[in-house]
Amino acid sequence: MQSKEQFRKEIIESRLELTPLQVREKSDKIISKLITLPVYQQAGTIMTYVAFNQEVETRELIKYSLSQGKRVFVPVTRKKERLLIPSEILDFPGDLQPGTWGILEPKPDCFRPKDPQEIDLVIVPGVAFDKEKQRLGYGGGFYDRFLSKLPEQSSFVALAFQLQIKEQVFTEQHDQPVHLVITED
Ligand SMILES: Nc1ncnc2c1ncn2[C@@H]1O[C@H](COP(=O)(O)OP(=O)(O)OP(=O)(O)O)[C@@H](O)[C@H]1O
Ligand SMILES: [Mg+2]
Repeated sequence: MQSKEQFRKEIIESRLELTPLQVREKSDKIISKLITLPVYQQAGTIMTYVAFNQEVETRELIKYSLSQGKRVFVPVTRKKERLLIPSEILDFPGDLQPGTWGILEPKPDCFRPKDPQEIDLVIVPGVAFDKEKQRLGYGGGFYDRFLSKLPEQSSFVALAFQLQIKEQVFTEQHDQPVHLVITED
């Protein structure tokens, strides 16, 4: 059987083969679906990843959410502690600069850490997902640790391209599933 590492690598590579236009068009479809859902419309506070390496694009989602009066948090990665800290964005993209792994994160004077308990909706990135909404991430366990701390009533929605949907994703005991996966199809 294929190893988890090899499986991860192949999916990341196949996602990198999408053209910038494909990423944009598919992402637009995915975000359009997300914003019609009650789980989005009823959320006052959203934490979302900022897309990196051809992940489903979230920049328009961040702009739109701020324009709708929602509070938007982005994750700050603390590599050593293997921790994600939600930080509130007031100005997008002005508050951000490249941080850990080149992912956009708040500038030091725009770091506004928030309690995970304040979050209604988490937009979760990932490498692959299965039909049971199990998630394979990048291998640090960051989101597994983070999601396990969130309040019972919060929702976890993953955004993924159809090519990231697989029969199985090497699920282990500690893996946190999501409540919904949205793809372009
Ligand atoms: N809640 C947790 N507490 C302690 N260790 C954890 C927890 N969740 C995951 N880990 C550890 O993190 C490591 C990576 O986990 P896994 O392979 O599931 O990462 P991943 O889900 O792909 O990554 P990520 O969540 O960062 O996208 C594993 O060795 C696992 O034991
Ligand atoms: Mg995991």
